[in-house]
Amino acid sequence: AQQNAEIIINADQPGPVINKNIYSQFVEHLGRGIYEGIWVGEKSKIPNTQGYRKDVLAALQDLQVPLMRWPGGCFADEYNWRDGIGPRNKRPVKVNTNWGGVEEDNAFGTHEFMALAEMLGSEVYINGNLGTGTPREMAEWLEYMTGEGKSTLAELRRKNGRDKPWKIDYFTIGNEAWGCGGHMTPEYYTNLYNHYATFLKAPSHNMPKLIASGGHTTDTSWAEHLTAHVNPIEKLAAVSFHYYTLPTEDWKVKGAALNFDEGQWISTFVSTWKMDEFIRNNKAVMDKNDPEKKIGFYVDEWGTWYDVEEGTNPGFLYQQNSLRDALVAAVNFNIFHDHADRVHMSNIAQMINVLQAMILTDKEKMLLTPTYHAFHLYKPFQDATYLPVNINHAAPYTFDGKSVPSLSVTSAKGKDGKTWLALVNTNPREAKTVDVSVKGTSVNKATGRVLTAERMDTHNTFDAPETIKPADYSANAQNGKLTLQLPAKSVVVVSLE
Ligand code: AHR
Repeated sequence: AQQNAEIIINADQPGPVINKNIYSQFVEHLGRGIYEGIWVGEKSKIPNTQGYRKDVLAALQDLQVPLMRWPGGCFADEYNWRDGIGPRNKRPVKVNTNWGGVEEDNAFGTHEFMALAEMLGSEVYINGNLGTGTPREMAEWLEYMTGEGKSTLAELRRKNGRDKPWKIDYFTIGNEAWGCGGHMTPEYYTNLYNHYATFLKAPSHNMPKLIASGGHTTDTSWAEHLTAHVNPIEKLAAVSFHYYTLPTEDWKVKGAALNFDEGQWISTFVSTWKMDEFIRNNKAVMDKNDPEKKIGFYVDEWGTWYDVEEGTNPGFLYQQNSLRDALVAAVNFNIFHDHADRVHMSNIAQMINVLQAMILTDKEKMLLTPTYHAFHLYKPFQDATYLPVNINHAAPYTFDGKSVPSLSVTSAKGKDGKTWLALVNTNPREAKTVDVSVKGTSVNKATGRVLTAERMDTHNTFDAPETIKPADYSANAQNGKLTLQLPAKSVVVVSLE
């Protein structure tokens, strides 16, 4: 018989706090992410509260979204904030040149985004326009949102219906400066960052943390250059980073969201596990310039990116979401927890109807994706204290000449005082038996939920929206020993007593 895998939780060696903002969302003006996805307008037949669809609001409230990043992405570097304020029927109509060339009527602007954040109790992360905006424009946006006195911009905000300044938690200067944000070098961008950051001002008790748009994939030069040359360095709260999971790692033929074979399954996990290596490499260069770890490393875009669903606008990046996506999300959470000393934020791309979404809508219909359920299962990890774990006797999962860990595990002491354990069995064919112990205490019981399904690509549809959802899970210790059975291709999250 195969030896059980063994997990030892080192409760006596607590690590950093797992910042709740690791569970943040990215919301861009892209496809049906905002329009239809969340904003339908007050006159819509879709049931709404002041223009926000009720079903989506309720699902997001239950998800406990800690923070949202808006308005892009590539869109941010062409966005003029003044287009999105004032009476909606007077706002200018523009073309969304990045995403499908569709009309953008600016019905969703600063006030609408901030009201959404207030309804969800989320922090906010505003992405400023460096690509086509001026330092004045960026500085004025921040003044509009945070101004307290009688300045013309604070008065304009009041005239537009918001008396009190908003709290702006994070602000980024540009997006993907190496690509759609202007095809810059790290040296040129760092100069611009210093320039723009000089003029970003807000009352001292409401100054957002400033984030620099950093590198992607294997490139560490952005993190290295920014942490060495931002001046003054106190103006750099974090460097951002983007990495997407593509089954084929080929941007021309990325792989399908559904109906894939086991070869695509394992290559997806090979690709997603690179996140760990890329974070490690960036942390190594940051440790040289910032050994006290004052500067964060925020993965503000990540997730699966497949070939767009046939018959949909290719610029809308709409894709289905299956059990595979839930496991990808969980593996990434576990990686982010392992790097919680620098990774204080991550934003999955994107919240609704775009890429690896939590929620899909089709006019008045809505469904929760397996990725939504993964985020929901991991709620107890928000602001929990990391506990290191030893994993023994877990043979890797191999297929097609490729190999990844069969078990991805994380543990933490929750804010509720409980010890939480999350386990991912990446093997799509074999269940796994795992002996669990916590150093220094005995464990009698594990209680929580499991997410698994029959097929690798099991997913929810608008006609069958509950095909895949979490089920209750529990296990009791026998003769003082707690053993968990993990179904093939599953995520299990339990608290231990
Ligand atoms: O998330 C979609 C796009 O991917 C974002 O707009 C851009 O920053 C990245 O390339």
